[in-house]
Amino acid sequence: MTEKLLTLPVPHVPAGESGVAWLRSTVVRFSNGTEHARRRALTTALLEGVDATTLDELAAQVLPGALDDVAVIAPSYQPHEDITSAADRAVERLVARHGRTETTAARIGLLVQAWAATRAFAGHLTAGNPAPPVPLTRRETAAGVVEVDLTGHPFGHGAHACPGRELATKIAKNMAFRALHHRDEPLLLPNAWDHATAVALQEAGYLAVGTTSFGVSAAHGVPDASGLAEEPTRTLARLLTTLPCPVTADVEAGFSADPGEVAEYVASLGVSGVNLEDGRADHLADPAHQAELVAAVKRRCPGVFVNARVDTHWLGIDATLPEVLTRAEHYLAAGADGIFVPRLPLPDVAAFTATFDAPLNVLAGEPVRRLADLGVRRISTGSQLFRAARAAAVATADALLSPGTRSGAA
Ligand code: HEM
Repeated sequence: MTEKLLTLPVPHVPAGESGVAWLRSTVVRFSNGTEHARRRALTTALLEGVDATTLDELAAQVLPGALDDVAVIAPSYQPHEDITSAADRAVERLVARHGRTETTAARIGLLVQAWAATRAFAGHLTAGNPAPPVPLTRRETAAGVVEVDLTGHPFGHGAHACPGRELATKIAKNMAFRALHHRDEPLLLPNAWDHATAVALQEAGYLAVGTTSFGVSAAHGVPDASGLAEEPTRTLARLLTTLPCPVTADVEAGFSADPGEVAEYVASLGVSGVNLEDGRADHLADPAHQAELVAAVKRRCPGVFVNARVDTHWLGIDATLPEVLTRAEHYLAAGADGIFVPRLPLPDVAAFTATFDAPLNVLAGEPVRRLADLGVRRISTGSQLFRAARAAAVATADALLSPGTRSGAA
């Protein structure tokens, strides 16, 4: 039924000479027939060149400096909404700067479409709510305008289906993943080592899923933290971008010492976050160099949550609180979004959270409530699920194959 209704024309909007009326009558969203086809081609061409991890980046590439005006226009954009004089002025400001052309309208329209819907989508992901952020749309029938329920079609369907779906999903997941680090409760993050475990964890209700470099390396027959799991890490991360929840990838030390290469590697994954560790096989990286890696990633993909891992306590090298704080300071100054210190003793956890506002990530082990009370914002399982699954496989094999066990069960 919904699919059929969505093949009907969108409600007619009268031609407008200026302001929001001009915008409405010039954008793809409220056009039909050949005008729609021409404007649709214009809009999809604009989107093709976009490589953005945040709404700000999207705006900078589509119409620089327009985001404040877009926020004013958005509540007046739909034909059933009232047009405010502020919205009219905002459209005219953008027209004065960029010209009264169909391309300018396409650029403004694209950002307006992105603005509210993507933020609403991120809010839904953060709350674990599967309801579509755009619940309905409108179509014209002989009997007048009807509302069409978009349940099951969150990005629409047919000729007007959302051309920003892929980009919007990526940006919304990035926004949601960041928000999950700034709630009252810590983010509980299980780490998967393959697609099947990641899907199972997401389906069990976890709001985000990470990967474990130990598990991924072991599953591919290479040692952890050896820099040999670059391709399996990338393949898994890309596969996991198809999950409905945000995903963060454990990328060891970034698989290169060159900041530009690490940044390109992270950009190629398409995930919402990465763990970047300062441990190197048998020593710790110079914090200034590690900070350069962090800064390069943040410049290249600002929407990706960089969780900078301090390996002092993991490797047992310089495992003191002052060293942790110094390293954390370097990485946060370089733009890191959070700090992960595996095996940080509890008294040092409290000292860390009293020093920095940035989210602290620790390994699961202590009661969640206790860690939450100490100010921990993210608790991850690391390789523990992988180790447990491996042990369970052996125990199950032993149980099934022990003498006297009946064979033949599927
Ligand atoms: C980067 C962000 C986004 C961009 C650039 C974008 C762009 C657009 C554009 C240009 C259209 C009009 C297409 C046409 O009329 O041919 C559209 C339609 C649509 N968008 Fe998006 N959008 C974005 C985010 C979203 C999000 C997050 C949702 C909700 C999950 C969404 C849901 C829809 C729906 C349902 C339609 C179809 C409306 C209808 O058929 O009447 N969009 N989008």
